[in-house]
Amino acid sequence: MRNVTLLDIYTHPVARKFVTRSGLRHAIDTANTAYNLAVEMDVDPDLATKAAFMHDIGHYTWYREDGKWDFDRYKENDIHAIKGAERAHKLLIRLGEDRSKAKEIALAILLHTDSYLPEGTLALNQLQQIVAKADELNEQPNGNHHYLTINENEANDLLTQLDQKVEEYEAVGQKKTS
Ligand SMILES: [Fe+2]
Repeated sequence: MRNVTLLDIYTHPVARKFVTRSGLRHAIDTANTAYNLAVEMDVDPDLATKAAFMHDIGHYTWYREDGKWDFDRYKENDIHAIKGAERAHKLLIRLGEDRSKAKEIALAILLHTDSYLPEGTLALNQLQQIVAKADELNEQPNGNHHYLTINENEANDLLTQLDQKVEEYEAVGQKKTS
């Protein structure tokens, strides 16, 4: 049984503000892709969907005076994965998430991109690979995935369906082990 659902996360004002900033549609699409990859790779879909849903929660707004996104400043100064890991962790703990799950989710967010890190090779675990891959599969040229839109009802429905899928997956796993 999960302490925290995707819908709990989505309905919290912190997620409302920051997940929406970088594109709610992209967050939900990435969570759905992460669910499928997690089932395929036998990784906990609860962790994968939560990390994927919040992977961009740390974005700052790099707007120029003309209101457009300044990609050069963004690329040079961005640390959204670091901020996102911390913000998601704080939100999860506030909502009553299990501490070990909150840590794994935060780490997967921290490592979902290496764009802010010095050159090098990271050895990602499977959960971290899933979140990075799910994000990559839902990216569009010029960051257009951040501007996709979704209405309130559709977002609620999609997250409710995904919560149900995660719970059904967990129920089957519990049957197998009991
Ligand atoms: Fe993303």
